Amino acid sequence: MHVAVVGTGYVGLVSGACFSEFGHHVTCVDKDEKKIEGLKQGEMPIYEPGLQKLVENNAEAGRLKFTTDLAEAMKGADAVFIAVGTPSRRGDGHADLSFVYAASEEIAHAIEGYTVVVTKSTVPVGTGAEVEKIIRDARPDADFDVVSNPEFLREGAAIEDFMRPDRVVIGTDAERAKEVMRELYRPLYLIETPIVFTKRQTSELIKYAANTFLATKITFINEIADLCEVLDADVQDVAKGIGLDGRIGRKFLHAGPGYGGSCFPKDTLALVRTAQDSGAPLRIVETVVDINAKRKKAMAQKIIAACGGDVKGKVIAVLGLTFKPNTDDMRDSPSLDIVPALVAAGATVRAYDPEGMDEARHMLSDVEWCKGAYETMDGADALAIITEWNEFRALDLDRVKDLLKAPVMVDLRNIYNPQDMADAGFEYTCIGRAKLAAEG
Ligand code: UDX
Repeated sequence: MHVAVVGTGYVGLVSGACFSEFGHHVTCVDKDEKKIEGLKQGEMPIYEPGLQKLVENNAEAGRLKFTTDLAEAMKGADAVFIAVGTPSRRGDGHADLSFVYAASEEIAHAIEGYTVVVTKSTVPVGTGAEVEKIIRDARPDADFDVVSNPEFLREGAAIEDFMRPDRVVIGTDAERAKEVMRELYRPLYLIETPIVFTKRQTSELIKYAANTFLATKITFINEIADLCEVLDADVQDVAKGIGLDGRIGRKFLHAGPGYGGSCFPKDTLALVRTAQDSGAPLRIVETVVDINAKRKKAMAQKIIAACGGDVKGKVIAVLGLTFKPNTDDMRDSPSLDIVPALVAAGATVRAYDPEGMDEARHMLSDVEWCKGAYETMDGADALAIITEWNEFRALDLDRVKDLLKAPVMVDLRNIYNPQDMADAGFEYTCIGRAKLAAEG
């Protein structure tokens, strides 16, 4: 099959590369000439494990191409995927659909034979209908169907998620379009991936419902963690104890500093707005959004409290800035609330992140950037771990203690064991677990 993918952001690039790995002929299009030039040279615009190799191999095999010319990409295409950004509209949380609509308009003019136009971008319910109208108005003669096919890719595990998905959701009533979509995803039949065929607007809603449910699950365990701290209970054990119930499930019950990233914050807010506009407000999700925003801010106070209530003139070492490990993505990361609050409280912040510092430099000011974990903590009054990168999971605790001015560690991801930390002589603060006095 021949496929065009509009937008070489996270979703577009991963989807394009994976479809070419399935054996389809894929052309990825982007307006950003620099990005396309870079991709032609094998330079990835994002950090995603395995992506570079996948792109290189398929480009070499002649199945994956890059261009800035949409009409060229769509020549002979059976399907064109819209994978452009849908950021939150500044101020009100509605998804900004201007990129989706602009792409639709361009696609309209490039359609030749029967083409399936697929929205892969996360778009509010009803967007598919709008895309169809835009194309129909621009090209009354065009032969096409508009299908919703949301992505469920986690950053850092996106290729695995594409190649071995829990399910594929396809929203359309058109039999012809279903056939094309079945053919595109045929390689997944071998691993018996469930394919959910449904109406287009249902498919659009499934994407939002999935993300808001997961955000709600995280927020639930975060609140339970706060309660654990007051009741001297252990949130890790609560998560295990409830997660083993098959109806609840163990995943996404890891308490932390609040969810961030390119999807959950934006999608929860967009669904809240859609529901309000439709006169059927989602009060649970409204609360989740509110709690999560406040939680990210509260984390700075947790660090300040661990430093005795005042960080004026103190040096805080921060490890991890991205919203989660294995990505360079800083969007809506808890660190964007925490670091400025520490600086505002008079602390000097020294920071290190394995992949996120290029991005972070544009988003955080008044930070001393370091080259490694141990350099960051050298002479600091306290150490705060914000993101659970693997390289922070097994720090040499004796060395950490020697380097720090005081053995104060705040672990916002619960990667260490409170008893081990107390035994090692640390004043250790974590999330939702008892605070033990340091030994010695
Ligand atoms: C998410 C969805 O998982 C994916 O299906 C969707 O298509 C895009 O959004 P992503 O944003 O890459 O993926 O990250 P994810 O692994 O889901 O984590 C999101 C946020 O929740 C991170 O900030 C993470 O630290 C936090 N999280 C996740 C927790 O705090 N606790 C958990 O148990 C799980």
